[in-house]
Amino acid sequence: LFFAGQALAGDNDWLSPVYKEIFQNELPIPPTKEKKYSYYNSTTNRYIDYYEIEIKSFEQQVYKGLKPAQLVGYDGISPGPTFRMEKDREAIVRFVNHGEKDISVHLHGSYSRAPFDGWAEDVTSKNQYKDYYYPNRQAARTLWYHDHAIHHTAENAYYGMAGFYILHDPDEDKLDLPAGEYDLPLALAAKQYNSDGTLFSPADETVSLYGDIIHVNGQPWPYKKVEPRKYRLRFLDSSISRAFKLTFEDSKAKKLPFNVIASDAGLLTKPVQSDNLEISMAERWEVVIDFSQYKGQNVTLKNSRDVQADEDYNSTDKVMQFVVGNTVSSDQGNGNLPGSLRNVPFPPTKSGVDRKFKFERQGGEWKVNGVTFADVNNRILAKPPRGAIEIWELENGGGGWSHPVHIHLIDFQIISRTGGRPVLNYEKEALKDVVLLGTSETVRVIARYAPWDGVYMFHCHNLIHEDHDMMAAFNVTSLADFGYPETTKFIDP
Ligand code: C2O
Ligand code: CU
Repeated sequence: LFFAGQALAGDNDWLSPVYKEIFQNELPIPPTKEKKYSYYNSTTNRYIDYYEIEIKSFEQQVYKGLKPAQLVGYDGISPGPTFRMEKDREAIVRFVNHGEKDISVHLHGSYSRAPFDGWAEDVTSKNQYKDYYYPNRQAARTLWYHDHAIHHTAENAYYGMAGFYILHDPDEDKLDLPAGEYDLPLALAAKQYNSDGTLFSPADETVSLYGDIIHVNGQPWPYKKVEPRKYRLRFLDSSISRAFKLTFEDSKAKKLPFNVIASDAGLLTKPVQSDNLEISMAERWEVVIDFSQYKGQNVTLKNSRDVQADEDYNSTDKVMQFVVGNTVSSDQGNGNLPGSLRNVPFPPTKSGVDRKFKFERQGGEWKVNGVTFADVNNRILAKPPRGAIEIWELENGGGGWSHPVHIHLIDFQIISRTGGRPVLNYEKEALKDVVLLGTSETVRVIARYAPWDGVYMFHCHNLIHEDHDMMAAFNVTSLADFGYPETTKFIDP
């Protein structure tokens, strides 16, 4: 027998015990993180909210009758608690490490200035803490915080260190999109378990760990009771190696159309209708879906990417189920979607390519332009002057792997994709911070390298590739280096 997943995983023991409770357990919603206190920052004339997160171990009973899985998460849960923040309200978050391994925290989607960006070597060891400062000056968007420790990111994220960080702003609030209980964060994650019920470790993997148990918000194959109305769903793929192609299907396998409304960097220019959604590691895509036609029925969220076919095993073609009730208790956000959502701040257009980066496996190592992150003298591959608009070409060097490439600090616009898929319709209306390079694809992205100077990472977000050093850095150089007067002024991206 040959299974797609077997080839993907690269070894023979990729199968978890069969999970028998598909769509029988309720979707968990991570609790909202409460601040400890606020204080006035007289330098910025703003209030700062102060939070504390404790990294600690916990157990999760995934399989009835087998051993629990041992996990380590933010505040001892996974996903971690959800931060719900308002634009222009700064935050300091103290991460206290009561786990065993070194950690580093990256707020993915924030233009956090170094040294608050989760630089992989800036680790916080056991029984230490670090305070991270988050400016929260970007427009409303779905961010996530996750571990970024050098050579342990895959393990740390997989064992639980990932959570949502949702930024709101008044412009988005005015649109009256589905909110409150009608706004659901959904973190997808694929994991693998040992025959005794414990979690299979990614520590020895060098290529990928796809995982055959599909979790949403930490629960394998959950269900969620919904009302027959519109919902906003915030998808995040927090898997370490698995990408998805999602569809919503009714009991007759008919696909429900939905509107894609937001990406990694917040709202699109306008809602884009689709009946499928491609999402790879670290990407966020948000949709509005209307369950009003499905009173008393079930709608299944399915996956058609890299599916394992044999019924004796866990089927990765299913994700979760929506159990649609008969009554609507509120009409908040249930009207027609606005025709346009916002003026997305796309960078000004220009021609040419400023830099080229090739992501490929060479001599058994994962590299960017022939360099690994371990090559400390050569890993700074670009020095954009602060504020510069640059076009970067990201090329998949081949070999059969896809690479979701993430550039820290900036939001980019995808201007072309060749060698496979085109730029997707919803990608065209979006700013992004991760883009998937399919197995033979080349993508060009344009961005303004702002607002801060400093050294930041860019890397493949297949966390096994990242941990094996498919990661490099760029140094946003201060204007003084280029003959301009030095200034600490914020350059709005
Ligand atoms: Cu989501 Cu450098 O990471
Ligand atoms: Cu990769």
